[in-house]
Amino acid sequence: MTGSRAYGYTDTLDAEHYARALRADIHGGLTGTPKSTAPTWFYDARGSELFEEITQLPEYPLWRAELGLLRLHAQDVAARTRARSMIELGSGSSTKSKLILEALGPAGLNYVPVDVSADALHQAGAHLVQEYPEIRLHALRSDFTAPLVLPDLPEDGPRLIAFLGSTLGNFRRGARVPFLRGLRDVMRPQDFLLIGADLVKDEQEMIAAYDDAQGVTAEFDKHLLHVLNRELDADFDPDAFDHTAVWNGAESHIEMRLRSRTEQLVKIRELDLAVHFERGEEWITERSAKFTTDGLREEMTEARLRTQELWADSDAGFALLLAAPA
Ligand code: SAH
Ligand code: AVI
Repeated sequence: MTGSRAYGYTDTLDAEHYARALRADIHGGLTGTPKSTAPTWFYDARGSELFEEITQLPEYPLWRAELGLLRLHAQDVAARTRARSMIELGSGSSTKSKLILEALGPAGLNYVPVDVSADALHQAGAHLVQEYPEIRLHALRSDFTAPLVLPDLPEDGPRLIAFLGSTLGNFRRGARVPFLRGLRDVMRPQDFLLIGADLVKDEQEMIAAYDDAQGVTAEFDKHLLHVLNRELDADFDPDAFDHTAVWNGAESHIEMRLRSRTEQLVKIRELDLAVHFERGEEWITERSAKFTTDGLREEMTEARLRTQELWADSDAGFALLLAAPA
């Protein structure tokens, strides 16, 4: 489906596909132990807006750390890859991506932002066509957990797949390598993959990044309940849950959790389900892995990707990794 915009737009997630995936995840996630659901559902218009607010919080330095690394190394990425197409997974506002687009040279460059959020794609698309009218922009609404199907791209030159913001960390360790292998399988020998990854650092700093003083992350976490009320005709009371963030050292990730304030039964009518919560029971709403540079390299090798460059800011605790098919 291509809309009549100043840029190409393909929606691979029709309402039925989205609803099916949402229902399956929420049903499975809220009937299992512990309760645990995918972070994909946060990002409607308001959820995307809240994420943008999070990126500006003093407690959430990773967004700025990645921006700093891209300022230093976008030219290196361009020189190394000579890419004429950039496909970006989970592109959101595409703010940081502009540094790479500029380094690659916008004239005639194909840029394919891929996101589950139509609102994020449209906002970013409207800005990008104004700012870089010479770019060939084709936004793709798609779920990156499903096999990647790219729009037709001219065969000219190497492609760069970018996955920034440490969104790779929203996959658990066991799912990351298969995911990376899936990307590797759509890459041609001349293509590249650029990953942004947050590194393990002081535990309190990591927790604060997901439990800020102003409560923006808490609002983001509870926003999931509004989404489920609207999409699944549920009756979650956001005031009946507290937001919390916990470091899970064994899995090297932060868990965002919603903790039930009372024992309660929540109806989810679209699923024909009543979910029981114990008082104090915690539901994992997102996992955000924190990496080591050695661990990142290892994961790439396991996915049959060869790390070509790893730029790390050890003070800020963030890394950019550029890989090619092995
Ligand atoms: N890369 C941007 C945005 C990161 S926020 C940055 O670094 O600022 C994560 C983005 O991934 C959001 O825009 C969200 O809508 C998108 N996203 C989350 N789950 C997704 C999925 N399963 N498929 C596609 N996009 C997804
Ligand atoms: C998009 N993703 C990598 C963010 C993260 O850090 O896991 C989302 C986020 N959740 C809470 N704060 C930010």
